[in-house]
Amino acid sequence: MLMLWVKALHIVLIASWFAGLFYLPRIYVNLAMESDPAAQQRLLLMARKLFRFMTMIAVPALACGLWLWLVVGIGQGQGWMQAKLGVVILLIAYHAYCGRLLSLFEQGRNTRSHKWYRWFNELPVLGMLAAVVLVVVKPF
Ligand code: HEM
Repeated sequence: MLMLWVKALHIVLIASWFAGLFYLPRIYVNLAMESDPAAQQRLLLMARKLFRFMTMIAVPALACGLWLWLVVGIGQGQGWMQAKLGVVILLIAYHAYCGRLLSLFEQGRNTRSHKWYRWFNELPVLGMLAAVVLVVVKPF
C-alpha cells in the first residue's frame, strides 16, 4: 500500500519536474531573440524562478524513485531499470546544463541562437519517452 502511494507521488513529482525541463529552454528561445533589456530582465526573472522550482521538485521526485528501487527492490538486477538509470543520469545532466546556460544569460554571455535552443528544447521529450516506455513496457 505504502509502495503505491510513493509511486503515485513519484509520478506527480516527475511530471512537475518535466514541466520545468520543457518550459525553461523555451524561455531561453525567447531570451535569445529578445533585444530589449527590460524584457530580457523579465524573462531572466522567470527563468531563475523556474530553475529554482524545478531543482526543488527534482530532489523528492528522484528520491521517491530511489526508494522504490533500493528499499522496495523493484527492478533490481533488471535491464529496464539499468537503462532507466542511464536515462535519469542524462536528464540530470540536462538539468545541470540548463543551470549553466542560465548563468551565461545572467552574465550576458549567451552565444547560441534561438534555433539552437529550439532543438535543445526537444531533448527532454526523448528522455521522457524513453523513461516511460522502460518502466511501463519493461522491454528487457
Ligand atoms: C533516480 C531516478 C529514478 C528511479 C530510481 C526510479 C525508479 C522507479 C521505480 C523502481 C518505479 C516502479 C516501477 C514499477 O512499479 O514497475 C518507478 C516508476 C515510475 N517511474 Fe521512476 N525512477 C526514477 C526517475 C524517473 C524519471 C526521470 C521518470 C521520467 C519519466 C520516471 C517515470 C516513472 C513512471 C511513469 C513510473 C510508473 C510506472 C508504473 O506504471 O508502474 N521515473 N520509478
